[in-house]
Amino acid sequence: MQPTFLTFPDPDAVASDAAARFIALAEGAIAERGRFVVALAGGSTPERLYKILATQTLDWTQIMVFFSDDRFVSVNNRFSNAGLALRLLPLCPRTTFPIPAETTLDAAECAAQYENELIAALGGEPRFDLVLLGLGDDGHTASLFPGKAALTATSGVTHSTPGVLPPPVDRVTFTFALINAARNVLFLVTGAGKKEKVAQWRAGEGSVSTLPVRGVAPTNGTCTVLLDQAAS
Ligand code: 6PG
Repeated sequence: MQPTFLTFPDPDAVASDAAARFIALAEGAIAERGRFVVALAGGSTPERLYKILATQTLDWTQIMVFFSDDRFVSVNNRFSNAGLALRLLPLCPRTTFPIPAETTLDAAECAAQYENELIAALGGEPRFDLVLLGLGDDGHTASLFPGKAALTATSGVTHSTPGVLPPPVDRVTFTFALINAARNVLFLVTGAGKKEKVAQWRAGEGSVSTLPVRGVAPTNGTCTVLLDQAAS
């Protein structure tokens, strides 16, 4: 099933809509289940969203924050996706789970440990209320890069060598299995660099191997893509 594609005038409008969705889902999940389980996206696009969320009234002690992927670096490293979120959001250390890069030897061990942490926190069948994702100019999402073994991993979290886009560091990433178990998946896609892959995605072109974003299809959940005009 194809995602729902929504186009907005500019990145600020995308971030504003994403923030409203985030808050509504958080309030609903906390009211229904006592907590909101979210995976934040990597890259630079979410920065606008985080700056809006930082001004909102959210009880972060009730929000379990994971990362749909990250570079195998410490949170203090400029390449760290978790580092960006920690700098911009008033996250609660007790309920925030960066990938354990600082206490593991390599990305493979880090992915295995992250999956264990995730299962310990969420139970054996982890189902995220919201998974935020981006789209790379090469069609990747999370750190599921074209042609890489991670695309067919059957665990919940796996690792990958770098794709063609920088930074050239190993990755830890959610697999399609974990992403597609989510209640809601929300993509934030902005900029002209994404236009070609968005067009292929919307036309149903390519395969998961050549256009990994096509592998995102929640089994029993929503999938929405927020685009700005430049990417649409
Ligand atoms: C990563 C990201 C990656 C990102 C896309 C888009 O670690 O690189 O998780 O999947 O979401 O590459 O990146 P931008 O938002 O910077 O365009």
